[in-house]
Amino acid sequence: MVRDTTVLMDEKRIFKASDEIKENALVKNWESEIEKGKDLEKYWSEKAEQFEWFQKWDKVLDESNKPFFKWFTGGKINLAYNAVDRWIKTEKRNQVAILYINERGQEKKITFYELYLEVNKVANALKNLGVKKGDTVSTYMPMCPELLIALLACTKIGALHSVIYSGLSVGAFVERINDAKVKVLFTADGTYRRGKIIDLKNIADEAILQCPTVETIVVVNHTGTPIEISELSGREIFYERLIDGEPAHCEPEPMDSEDPLFLLYTSGSTGKPKGVLHTTAGYMLGAATTLRNVFDIHDDDLWWCTGDIGWITGHSYVIYGPLLLGTTTIVYEGAPDYPDPGVWWKIVEKYGVTKFYTAPTAIRHLMRFGTRYTNLYDLGSLRILGTVGEPINPEAWVWFYENVGKGKCPIMDTWWQTETGMHMISPLPVADLKPGSTTLPLPGVDADVVDEEGNPVPVGKGGYLVIKKPWPAMFRTLYKDEERFENVYWKEFPGYVYKAGDMARKDENGYFWIQGRSDDVLKIAGHRIGSAEVESAFVGHPAVAEAAVIGRSDPIKGEVIKAFIILKEGYELKTHLIEDLKKHVRYELGPVAVLGEIVQVDKLPKTRSGKIMRRILRAQEMGEDLGDTSTLEE
Ligand code: WTA
Repeated sequence: MVRDTTVLMDEKRIFKASDEIKENALVKNWESEIEKGKDLEKYWSEKAEQFEWFQKWDKVLDESNKPFFKWFTGGKINLAYNAVDRWIKTEKRNQVAILYINERGQEKKITFYELYLEVNKVANALKNLGVKKGDTVSTYMPMCPELLIALLACTKIGALHSVIYSGLSVGAFVERINDAKVKVLFTADGTYRRGKIIDLKNIADEAILQCPTVETIVVVNHTGTPIEISELSGREIFYERLIDGEPAHCEPEPMDSEDPLFLLYTSGSTGKPKGVLHTTAGYMLGAATTLRNVFDIHDDDLWWCTGDIGWITGHSYVIYGPLLLGTTTIVYEGAPDYPDPGVWWKIVEKYGVTKFYTAPTAIRHLMRFGTRYTNLYDLGSLRILGTVGEPINPEAWVWFYENVGKGKCPIMDTWWQTETGMHMISPLPVADLKPGSTTLPLPGVDADVVDEEGNPVPVGKGGYLVIKKPWPAMFRTLYKDEERFENVYWKEFPGYVYKAGDMARKDENGYFWIQGRSDDVLKIAGHRIGSAEVESAFVGHPAVAEAAVIGRSDPIKGEVIKAFIILKEGYELKTHLIEDLKKHVRYELGPVAVLGEIVQVDKLPKTRSGKIMRRILRAQEMGEDLGDTSTLEE
């Protein structure tokens, strides 16, 4: 059953790129680039020449042990070396690498050379703390330069990083740190958000009590809030102290192409988040190549991706993609509407941002203010826009196109996932665009829409989105759970076809229209959260006996949580209990879990084996036919 979400196909509305965009484009012919991409190995190996390898690869793609694909085996390379060290030997040495800006209007510019020095110091300090190749370091930090520096330092010495989004809370934090057996944690006193300082250290302190593997906690005094750390315990150290006196040189660790690079936890259908594992060379290649092609990155560009580093968008397109291309990346800390809903446009004008990449939820939020704020500032520097994270409704697309892009900036609607590591289905700037469609698979990517048996569906019919051939930035496994990796993604359809977990349709031009998730994963303001995770947070509350959670559509956030709960005897769903439940879920999961509605019920629809049938609740919610109910308990 295909859930029709916000996006209805409108194949007739076509937006063409201007001559200026076409003349400037690095890829001038979309179709012929897609043709070239069909020879996977040739295409990706040519792109891989952009990096400095310590040792060249023997084999581009090793498919001998499906679905455990390997890329560029025999090669040796280092990410930090390619993202930072490489540029200091060039005229980019003194160019700004990181432009940090926050909602208070403060800024900090860090050149490639300065970044090089600081990454090395942190890398050396990590070694002194006993962190070795293959160990895991976590961060629970605001969007600030030290976060990027810590991650680059990890990749320099071959340690894995596992970033915890600063909007997650204690429960989610503990689960992720313990699963990954984290040795060192970077955190900060707090983060700026809508005029306040959100205390991160408090949450970290509380969580860390339950995390026995963490040996050292590095604290960045980011907002200048006076904090005390217990250096005497030997476990906490200020960032400044950590790097004080460390040598400014550090040899990059020559990593095998397939050495693990990082873990990033994301939500799936079951309660336990999945540790998505990416490896070195293929990931680097995917992130850099797609950024260059999709956003047509030139040397004079100023790139701004508003995504948070706590999610894959920030990994691939705030840090790694741009730095691997030697491009300045803007790191922005704050909300899109504080001090007022013009704050982003003010930044675009002030710095001359040329490429701007954000989420549909932010566009829908800002669109409520009409043209009031977009007209206040000169947005003439913008050349290409982009969106990610959820389907964009055509109204929001057109508003973005007309008011932010002033009718001259193509919008790259990029479909991809934590698991894919890189953009997969997206236009290139020269493409003909249709609002609400992610257009075609990128060159070097083979995607399709299939039915339950894995056969391609006819034009206009809904089906499962799949990827039919391996791609370099693909995740390699789920951390410590190869079985789940194989079962969830690779077993559903014959022939080791990757099941993305989304529903989609294709139109007569072969354009893809993503319809939303096919599983029990919610997308709240673009953030990915599993129904089961929210349910387990609910039943952790003393008043709740059972819970079932579905997404309810929301005009701004896309989806919010609708929870059906069975209360234990003696409890009633009164205002104070609702407030308490909200607080509890927030404590467990953080502000990402936005509760739209809590309904008390006596019974939940279940299969005879006792599994909750969320599908039935969803159908009821949408006023749809209940579909096949033969497995329903009663
Ligand atoms: C959804 C985010 C429609 C989709 C990079 C996918 C999208 C999930 C789009 C992955 C898009 C992402 N149009 N839906 N352009 N981009 N999605 O892992 O449901 O946080 O499976 O990665 O976001 O979310 P994740």
